[in-house]
Amino acid sequence: MKKSPIRVAVTGAAGNIGYALLFRIASGAMFGPDQPVALNLVEIEPGLAPLKGVAMELDDCAFPLLTEIVQTADLSVGFKDCDWALLVGSVPRKQGMERADLLGINGKVFVGQGKAINDNAKSTCRVVVVGNPCNTNCLIAMKSAPDIPDEQFFAMTRLDENRAKTQLAQKAGVPVSEISELCIWGNHSPTMFPDFFNTKIGRSKATDVITDDAWLKNTFVPDVGTRGAAIIAARGASSAASAANAVVDTVRDLCTPSRGDFHSVCVLSSGEYGTPAGIITSLPIKVDAVGKWRVVEGISLTDYAKEKIAASNAELLEERKVAFGQLGLTI
Ligand code: LMR
Repeated sequence: MKKSPIRVAVTGAAGNIGYALLFRIASGAMFGPDQPVALNLVEIEPGLAPLKGVAMELDDCAFPLLTEIVQTADLSVGFKDCDWALLVGSVPRKQGMERADLLGINGKVFVGQGKAINDNAKSTCRVVVVGNPCNTNCLIAMKSAPDIPDEQFFAMTRLDENRAKTQLAQKAGVPVSEISELCIWGNHSPTMFPDFFNTKIGRSKATDVITDDAWLKNTFVPDVGTRGAAIIAARGASSAASAANAVVDTVRDLCTPSRGDFHSVCVLSSGEYGTPAGIITSLPIKVDAVGKWRVVEGISLTDYAKEKIAASNAELLEERKVAFGQLGLTI
């Protein structure tokens, strides 16, 4: 029997990430080759004209899985009955800015989107926040959508995991598929911690293959944390195709029972590994057979790792304090 379509709302649909993302969703890369999808494309008013062109191109691909395209600037239409809300649209940072500098600009957008998801989406809707600062924006959206269970909110550090895996693979001279069990901990900001201590290269510990401790601590860790800024400096615009790819990876792996490896996803913490409860922070996530996610237990963290993770989570507490103060939200 033919499956009924999964309805996916994408904000910022005519933006750079949207343009790299929609065609992959419609092609089946996100939900599989036999799963129909309907796309709710959400833009701000000035984005509606270019959005029409994007929708025309989607039509021109004749994707067999794409059953419907909705184009709108009205959030209540955009999130109507959606199964997934991919919150991509936001003002991107420019050279010289940190993602947290966007809090004042983007924070309020996520209040409105959270409310509209609450009132219009399916109660089972899952939300992935990409717009920066994504961890705190996700918390803002979650607090603004009290009827949607907290465990259905996610922010994205898969791009950082993918970046970190490639950097280790290149250093070790192995294919990237050899790198596993690499968790990004904390905030999607330069303070994030890519835990090389627990990473595997093939069957070996990464630190047995890459024995250059100074490179791991002083080059690898900061390079992963500042890769977004390096892309902006090189491209003159923030990452788009790689960010879209990480959204596909995130959603696909949240829908698929894990086959061994875990992945980095930002979720609402409840004190795992000493992380303060009540922030959206990046943790190692596995999906069990019935599709429920859980934080992987039993990872042992070095004192160095604990210190790095604590600093990143302290930054998230501070972001929460500032944003919630500005927006009048209660913790
Ligand atoms: C990235 O990591 O590339 C994105 O979050 C964009 C940015 O501002 O860094």
